[in-house]
Amino acid sequence: MSSLINFSNITISLSGKSILNIDQLDVPAHQCTLLTGRNGSGKTTLFKIMAGLLKPNSAEVHYQGLEMTWKQAKPYIQKDIIYLHQQPYLFDASVADNIAYGLHRLGENKAAAHKKVMQALDWANLSHLAHRSAKQLSGGEKQRVALTRARILSPRLLLLDEPTASMDTDAKQQTSLLLQRLKSEGVSIMISSHETHTIDHIADRHLHIENGQINTLERAVHSNKVTVLNTPKFNA
Ligand SMILES: Nc1ncnc2c1ncn2[C@@H]1O[C@H](COP(=O)(O)OP(=O)(O)OP(=O)(O)O)[C@@H](O)[C@H]1O
Ligand SMILES: [Mg+2]
Repeated sequence: MSSLINFSNITISLSGKSILNIDQLDVPAHQCTLLTGRNGSGKTTLFKIMAGLLKPNSAEVHYQGLEMTWKQAKPYIQKDIIYLHQQPYLFDASVADNIAYGLHRLGENKAAAHKKVMQALDWANLSHLAHRSAKQLSGGEKQRVALTRARILSPRLLLLDEPTASMDTDAKQQTSLLLQRLKSEGVSIMISSHETHTIDHIADRHLHIENGQINTLERAVHSNKVTVLNTPKFNA
């Protein structure tokens, strides 16, 4: 199992309260990690630090053969790691325009961007929504559009914050299918979720945050079915 990126000594205090104090966090390449923890345990905070969006008090990053402080690593991680919010923000334009946005920012010309957007929509089985207003989509559709918009930027690691919360069974299945596709394409994925059963079949390992620290939960594999041995209790 090769490592994609390694974080060490992550500490952060917010409003004078220590939130995270993590010795080591290794993210394996091409794998899916499930991240659990009670409400307020620091999952979102950790994801934002990993994606270069929130400055920790301290953190070192080992990435692409370089040992860096978080600040030195910030431009690399902002480019290669994408954080997806639970309620993704889509602007008041068509689905296709929302997906094209990142490509235009990267300087892609209009024709090439259009072609990529259409291919991406096809990948996500969302072609029928291309010209719909993004503001009119359901929560599940918005989440899939946001995933497609993230994928088109070719991230190496996707951090998904509660991607299936408040989705019905069908929307969960469709999101889960896209996540499996992304994983099979080699994208590393970390998913924070209280719904372990929805994510469990995609996840290769299970991390749990408690008291600001990360523990690996043991899993047993029985004929392709992965069972979490030590299911944490949630206060959700
Ligand atoms: N900007 C902030 N200022 C002060 N405290 C904050 C700030 N952001 C988060 N916190 C606190 O940090 C702790 C961790 O919050 P975080 O949102 O990371 O938890 P979480 O595990 O994602 O929770 P949930 O499961 O509810 O999404 C909480 O106690 C929260 O109140
Ligand atoms: Mg959160």
